[in-house]
Amino acid sequence: MFTVEATASAPGKVILVGEHFVVENEPAVAMAINRRAYVTSSLRDDGAIYIKSLNLKASGFFKGGGFKPEVGGFEAFETLNPIKVAVEQVFKFTDKIVGLNILIDSQIPVGAGLGSSASIFVATVKSVADLLKIKLSKGDVFKAAFEAEKVVHGKPSGIDPAISTYGGIIAFRRGEGFIPIKSKSSITLVLGDSGIRRSTRDLVQKVQKLKNSYPNILNPIYHAAGHLAIQAAQAIRDGEIEKLGELMNINQGLLRAVGASSQELENLIYASLKAGALGAKLTGAGGGGCIIALVKAKDVKNVAKEIRKAGGRAMTIREASKGVSVSYRKLN
Ligand code: PMV
Repeated sequence: MFTVEATASAPGKVILVGEHFVVENEPAVAMAINRRAYVTSSLRDDGAIYIKSLNLKASGFFKGGGFKPEVGGFEAFETLNPIKVAVEQVFKFTDKIVGLNILIDSQIPVGAGLGSSASIFVATVKSVADLLKIKLSKGDVFKAAFEAEKVVHGKPSGIDPAISTYGGIIAFRRGEGFIPIKSKSSITLVLGDSGIRRSTRDLVQKVQKLKNSYPNILNPIYHAAGHLAIQAAQAIRDGEIEKLGELMNINQGLLRAVGASSQELENLIYASLKAGALGAKLTGAGGGGCIIALVKAKDVKNVAKEIRKAGGRAMTIREASKGVSVSYRKLN
């Protein structure tokens, strides 16, 4: 008798330009980052799906339509149910419905705008598919993870599961797909984490509400953001880093106009710019979470220092060219 485990990992992301506007079908540009979520799955013989997240401090059993929490009380259901939905998406590709243990260990901070949930869904789908020897294309992995993301927030654009599946840098448009972008120069970002956690669902709803209240004012802002994303994609491709910085600054102005920024984020953004960043903006849903500052290599230390002085946690991030990937472990 031997046990087989399958471990898969998938990267988190930053949105370089275009968050929120992408929900309304404008293009956006995202970059996979060198922080990953790891998911290990193995078979269990009681037919239950047991999910344990080390980072979210939640675990529990799904069986026969019911849920029994182990850690985190009944709130664990909200956290773990979308992961179970990701598993069920894989079951659609097979007639083997089996019991599973799903163990999640992620390096990506939660609720910080770094795509932590999407990377967990993507890695879960890949890990379970591999365990059950189901061949899924990257497109299948993306679609399955996207279904799970819809459970978490009502109207996702799909950019998070797309970048986490494919890696690298992509220009993405909801409903149309994406184009990979090869950058002529490397992109160095300092991430500033405000430490404030918020829900993507609430922020997306807040921005949508403002858009519905002032369509004549906000529609042109959305279109401007779409033009901006296309120019940013070209600037990345051509290695025009200073231009990218300028576009990120304009993008931040638009995000502020639609209600996605906050005092704490603005403080980190201005601290980065003062310390020499070429551009700085919030990343992800905003309201809290992280900012990204585009910097020349020589300015990394100074920008990180000023972010810390302004109350944030700073770290340097790089592009992760590898999207979802799998590794096997056989235990006797
Ligand atoms: O904060 P995050 O990592 O959940 O990113 C959300 C990005 C949005 O554009 C605000 C929503 C979406 O689905 O594209």
